[in-house]
Amino acid sequence: MIRVTGDTHGEEIRFYEENMVGEHSWTKDDYLMICGDFGYIFRNSPYERIFLDKLEEKPYTICFVDGNHENFPAIYEYPKEKWNGGYVHRIRKNIVHLMRGQVYTIEGKTFFTMGGGYSRDRMYRKPGVSWWPQEMPSNDEYREATQNLKEVGNRVDYILSHTAPKEVVNRMNRTCDENELELNGFFDWLMYEVEFKQWFFGHWHSDIGIDGGKFRAVWFDVCEIK
Ligand SMILES: [Fe+2]
Repeated sequence: MIRVTGDTHGEEIRFYEENMVGEHSWTKDDYLMICGDFGYIFRNSPYERIFLDKLEEKPYTICFVDGNHENFPAIYEYPKEKWNGGYVHRIRKNIVHLMRGQVYTIEGKTFFTMGGGYSRDRMYRKPGVSWWPQEMPSNDEYREATQNLKEVGNRVDYILSHTAPKEVVNRMNRTCDENELELNGFFDWLMYEVEFKQWFFGHWHSDIGIDGGKFRAVWFDVCEIK
């Protein structure tokens, strides 16, 4: 079973039973996908690495797209490898970072991933300590995304991202930051040019479905992909 949840922000409580109901019964055949702001590689400290080691003891696979609150240089230090058809950073044997613009096939379902986002709280953060410029995708990452999508005929089963199309954000009665519009606009293009069943995203710290659930904002909810 593949399950999707939202921003975990390095909070250990997210793996407590009350926040992830049934998690104790998940097996090696299960996947948990996190829609950005993973946050367990943020201070890049021994304490965080001990918690990652604890997560490594779990039988299931943890996958995450990056959000805006991530320590990108620390994530990029992990080995890059091919995994289920797309590139990942291998964090632990059962933990992978789903890189931007990739298409993966897992349990016969295809996933397009595109992390990144803009930190509205950037002014309260310190570059290289609590904020990193790689939070927004580069031109190369946009190019790789469109190329990889083209190779699968602009058709996937699921899209996983951190932020969302502008049109969807507005329908949540939220507004995009002008510094994030490039990415929101790219997603606006995707929502019309790419055929997909469902799009999951984090960032907005909301659990809400839009368009009958075709677009699903996730935070604490754990959604099953059937
Ligand atoms: Fe977040």
